[in-house]
Amino acid sequence: MDVRYKLPMAQHSDTLPTGQPTIGRRRSYGTIPEANRLGVGVIGLHEGHTLLVALRASGLCRAVAGCDISENKRVEALDASPGLFITEHYEELLARPDVQIVAIYTPDAFHAEHIEKAFLAGKDVICTKPLINNPDQAERLQKCAQKTGRRLQVGQSTRFYEPFQRQRELFESGAMGDIEVVDAHYNHRMDWYYEKSPWTIEDTHWAYLGLSHPVDLVRWYLGSIREVHAVGTITRLGVSHGVKSPDAICVNLVAESGRIGRVLGNYGFHELPKARALIECFLMGSDGSSLARYPDLRMTYANASGVEIEEDYHHSMSGYYFRHELKGMHYGEFCNYLDYFASKLLSGEPNSPDLAEGLGTVMVMRAIVQSLETGQPIKVDQSG
Ligand SMILES: NC(=O)c1ccc[n+]([C@@H]2O[C@H](COP(=O)([O-])OP(=O)(O)OC[C@H]3O[C@@H](n4cnc5c(N)ncnc54)[C@H](O)[C@@H]3O)[C@@H](O)[C@H]2O)c1
Repeated sequence: MDVRYKLPMAQHSDTLPTGQPTIGRRRSYGTIPEANRLGVGVIGLHEGHTLLVALRASGLCRAVAGCDISENKRVEALDASPGLFITEHYEELLARPDVQIVAIYTPDAFHAEHIEKAFLAGKDVICTKPLINNPDQAERLQKCAQKTGRRLQVGQSTRFYEPFQRQRELFESGAMGDIEVVDAHYNHRMDWYYEKSPWTIEDTHWAYLGLSHPVDLVRWYLGSIREVHAVGTITRLGVSHGVKSPDAICVNLVAESGRIGRVLGNYGFHELPKARALIECFLMGSDGSSLARYPDLRMTYANASGVEIEEDYHHSMSGYYFRHELKGMHYGEFCNYLDYFASKLLSGEPNSPDLAEGLGTVMVMRAIVQSLETGQPIKVDQSG
């Protein structure tokens, strides 16, 4: 076995149902016998490779197939997961009866095509963020989902990261009261990403690629968004990599309820990781406030007596979330969202964010792009 991916199994035996404090433990969405677990086929084996490894900790799914047009990626996947069916042809992955869920991690612009093919092949789908980066494809996807009856989960990894799961549990317990203002950001210097994945320069927009994290968080708490007003600029780092649309974007959002949110994304700045986390969600509620962070495994809130409490999962859960690699790997949250989706497929209950909710977020991102281009506030198209 490639030691880089060695799994410290002791960290994974101590499971606890979700909905309870998780210090010293990992998340679990249930466990079923290995032979009954849902087979997952992954297309796009860079972030998709992370999922293959993440699934070693799954209680409901097992990795059965992988697909990538890059031979190197196929070899790396096979090294890390001996016995996996590996192909360069997506149709071969889709034809396999042991693949029940297709997990999509190709560049943003391919997501719609790969989702549609999976639906037509009778598979349920988990698609990484952004769900799609061309809103004109939304209607076709909705029709295809209706025709085939297949289900989709958007892989919004941040929602499934421990501090954000804990923050949500506190909110659902009523401890925050009514959420009046949400302040969320995803700021990350991206020179390494332009070099690794040049498609990020030509074939997508930071309003989709990066802002999909904080925009999803704001919608998670405020619901449907009525209007956005965005401003943006291209950083010197963006200019030096040939970026043509803003890589630093600030947006004010107004919900249907009248509650307000703000998101910031800067992809060309000098990070200050001790002071500010890459992703933060600051909830300001009528009865309390809370702050969740990524990649820090910390969530801070004030209890009813005004005492500030910090839950820190770094020592107890970094094995699950990072597998002892770099802080910032996505193993735990990818395993969480796959198992969450599998649990909903197995129980027949609805999942979130599903296709409709994901497309609603895409419409907010489209309005953000229009606002950047016109300089005007833009009403969000709710029909999508
Ligand atoms: N937090 C997160 O959830 C998170 C983090 C990073 C990236 N992403 C998303 O994951 C997706 C992939 O990002 P990445 O960083 O892995 O990009 P990447 O460029 O490193 O990898 C994309 C992979 O897809 C393969 N590929 C491209 N076209 C293909 C095709 N037609 N058939 C099969 N394979 C194909 C490429 O060979 C490559 O290995 C993007 O949509 C990105 O937004 C999500």
